[in-house]
Amino acid sequence: MSLPIIVTIDGPAGTGKSSAAAQLADRLGFDMLDTGAMYRAVALLAIENSIDPSDEARLARAMDQVSLQVDFSSRPPTIRLGTRDVHERIRDGDVTGIVSLVASHHEVRVRMVEAQRQVATQHDRLVTEGRDQGSVVFPNATVRVWLDARPEVRAHRRAEELRMRGESIDERRVLAEIVQRDASDRSRSEGPLRQPDGSHAIDTSDIAFADVVDALERLVRLELSATSMRCGCGGDA
Ligand code: DC
Repeated sequence: MSLPIIVTIDGPAGTGKSSAAAQLADRLGFDMLDTGAMYRAVALLAIENSIDPSDEARLARAMDQVSLQVDFSSRPPTIRLGTRDVHERIRDGDVTGIVSLVASHHEVRVRMVEAQRQVATQHDRLVTEGRDQGSVVFPNATVRVWLDARPEVRAHRRAEELRMRGESIDERRVLAEIVQRDASDRSRSEGPLRQPDGSHAIDTSDIAFADVVDALERLVRLELSATSMRCGCGGDA
């Protein structure tokens, strides 16, 4: 049996992590895990059950009573809360507005970290993206990447994404929200947003998206061939 290969991509909102992770996974023939979508599904769970997003204990109880599954039968995978596919609903503003607070709770994060590690036991060629994948969840991943970009660039990208969904957008407000969400993600004690020690950093502000994916693919292929030379076990990606 070959060794698991895990690629982690972390960074703040609007750096193009999800799209880059999805394309990288396609190029390598790996599966892709969007861990932000998992936290968003918990935020939706709070909304639908009228749970105060600051009520950690109630949130944890609700998580224990519902099945939250990543459905790998489509590419990219979708997310299921109970029997419903919620991958579109979790992008709505009400979910975005509380997800950072929901994700700050210890009891929420331990459950998510466990669920993410469980996914990796079943998908041993995995590109996983989020905030803590390389620092907390998979510190021994084969390749760990940190993507960043200037806040204005990130706000512009996010605003474009929302416009594509037909929403009317004030870009300055998007920027303010991004800055606030990053500050909250960075300052929490549990799994804070930070560049994992020893990870590869790429600033995507002035790089075309295709070039970012090329750079990621190069990094992974280089690491895989170095690993196969070290252990003589052959990389098959
Ligand atoms: O990437 P995103 O915007 O969909 O993430 C939603 C929120 O979830 C964001 O506030 C950060 C949080 N998150 C996290 O705390 N840890 C992760 N591994 C992924 C996302």
